[in-house]
Amino acid sequence: MFPREFTRFLLFAGLGVLVLFTVPGCERPRPKKPLTIGFAQTGAESAWRTANTVSMKSEAEKRGIDLKFSDGQGKQENQIRAVRSFITQGVDAIVIAPVVETGWDPVLREARRARIPVILTDRSIQTSDESLFSCFIGSDFYEEGRMAADWLAKHTGGKGRIVELQGTVGSAPANERRKAFAEGIAKYPGLKILDAQSGDFRRANGKEVMESLLKKHGRTIDIVYAHNDDMALGAIQAIEEAGQKPGKDIVIVSIDAIKEAIQAVVDGKINCTVECNPLFGPKVYDTAAKLLAGEKVPKKLFNKDELFDHTNAATVVASRQY
Ligand code: AHR
Repeated sequence: MFPREFTRFLLFAGLGVLVLFTVPGCERPRPKKPLTIGFAQTGAESAWRTANTVSMKSEAEKRGIDLKFSDGQGKQENQIRAVRSFITQGVDAIVIAPVVETGWDPVLREARRARIPVILTDRSIQTSDESLFSCFIGSDFYEEGRMAADWLAKHTGGKGRIVELQGTVGSAPANERRKAFAEGIAKYPGLKILDAQSGDFRRANGKEVMESLLKKHGRTIDIVYAHNDDMALGAIQAIEEAGQKPGKDIVIVSIDAIKEAIQAVVDGKINCTVECNPLFGPKVYDTAAKLLAGEKVPKKLFNKDELFDHTNAATVVASRQY
């Protein structure tokens, strides 16, 4: 009796295994292949950039994404080389934070030929064919420059001589923040740009440029408009070393709203900083997943940015992540 039952058991068990492997939908769940994404980052020029890199890397790790990260060290040719290597490696999607606006079409065409979707983050590009990239995710740099100009007009009574510390030459944030600010203050004939120079979004360069502007213009400078907080913080050092009080003798208006700058607002050394949120890792990977699933995504996704001055800086500084 026992041996026959045992044989029957073996027969049913064998049949069960057969069904499991042959009937569709009954397969043993196979581990999903992790998504591979190539990210051509601009560089490591500022605290903002460091926060952006951390957001992209940590979110990839959380989601089990195989992130191939390349630091372009501020050079477009390095970023183009990285994109070509991502194409050769056959990544699922490519993310680029383009250092400058122009010169991307040829490599984007190569990505398209390889059927790899490209997401632009942080900085956009100038192209004659917008279909070369799937979408853009980042801040509205024009709006940031406009907010800075409006704040300044309101808080100076529309009067003052300005020096402008510009970002990387040819980059989208430098171009748009310059344009929006110039257009914003044009309505106030008492606000004049005395001088403008690039500090490449770097603190050391911001200090150096400010030193030379202070030498050139002496005590005639009333306002510093810096395209980012790192350059503003460098300029503050130069102003203090020249024996003047930043935030009082010279009004400082800046962009990014990193924790250190918001603290400087609380300390009265920066008068206003317009936010440019760098924490968009989650948005980038959500969008990549949608694209790869064949879903439609908006062509341009803008972060919502705020402005911090003496009225609200103290309430946010402790909880600021970057
Ligand atoms: O592209 C964003 C800009 O680049 C940030 O304002 C600046 O800090 C960074 O280096």
